[in-house]
Amino acid sequence: MANTDLDQMREHMLAAIDAAAGLDALDAVRVEALGKQGRVTQLLKTLGTMSADERQVEGPRIQGLRTAVADAIASRKETLERAALDARLAGETLDMTLPADAPLSGTIHPVSQVMDELAEIFADLGFAVATGPEIEDDWHNFSALNIPESHPARAMHDTFYFPDQPGGERKMLLRTHTSPVQIRTMLSQKPPIRIIAPGRTYRSDSDATHTPMFHQVEGLVIDKGITLGHLKWTLETFLKAFFERDDITLRLRPSYFPFTEPSAEVDVGYTWQKGKRVIGGSEGWMEVLGSGMVHPKVIAACGLDPDEWQGFAFGCGIDRLAMLKYGMDDLRAFFDGDIRWLKHYGFSALDVPTLSGGVGA
Ligand code: DAH
Repeated sequence: MANTDLDQMREHMLAAIDAAAGLDALDAVRVEALGKQGRVTQLLKTLGTMSADERQVEGPRIQGLRTAVADAIASRKETLERAALDARLAGETLDMTLPADAPLSGTIHPVSQVMDELAEIFADLGFAVATGPEIEDDWHNFSALNIPESHPARAMHDTFYFPDQPGGERKMLLRTHTSPVQIRTMLSQKPPIRIIAPGRTYRSDSDATHTPMFHQVEGLVIDKGITLGHLKWTLETFLKAFFERDDITLRLRPSYFPFTEPSAEVDVGYTWQKGKRVIGGSEGWMEVLGSGMVHPKVIAACGLDPDEWQGFAFGCGIDRLAMLKYGMDDLRAFFDGDIRWLKHYGFSALDVPTLSGGVGA
């Protein structure tokens, strides 16, 4: 093909690309030039029929045309996409100065309310509130808690892992429980330690009683001469204050957690009243938390001498506590953001839980 013909073709195609007013029009130009039957594609096919000498001249020219057209299409596509996004963002503008039709007053979410109640109850027992990151590494979330890599508990946690980072030493994940805050606290503070750690946790699970994001509270006491008796008294005092009744009955069942030895699951008793379960008494039992004496290996992993320091720990689902105390039956509704649900189950911002005024608002 003569030089001028090829130049003309290039100019013609670049002009068509420039003139394409939308993504569909641009794609039509692309098909016409670079599609299976496209004009550039046809030209490329002619290379096979040429002599070697001819091909040496024509090859780079036709390839050059193809590259120029493909580059122009990519750049026009980016411009058109950006324009489409700008138009969409401009169209979605909200005028925040417009008056609201119906006056809305926010409420305190039951999960926030229960977290405030827990902080109030445990502050009275001398516990501070500790926090840790939701994006954790596998050492804090598992290994330091005596859950080595091959341990079946790792599989049971339905963990959300992040893709491996180049140069990253530890695997990153969304924490599956609040227990890593135990580790971070022991590493950063000298005992005696008394903390609770409320916060978000994540597992790949979803039904009426499980959501991929949920809330737990962790408790940790490290001191000298700590026994199972201290654990039992603390949990009993906590649950009586939380449910605001003195007739709470607890049942400690032997259990297993890798990070405690011995371990116990704690049930609270309930009675049936008008077809509903009411906390108190012992007609039935509901599991509310896991607990135990901190495993010597966990204490040692944090650089403390387990012969000198002992402690107890517990972990408890906050959403479940809220459901039991305030009578919701579907956990998923907690996170739907439905105004009617929030109005019904939410709390007034002025009702701050206090022990003297009643933690339940
Ligand atoms: N981390 C446990 C879980 O998510 C709960 C738990 C059990 C925490 C026993 C503790 C404990 O501190 O001692 O299932």
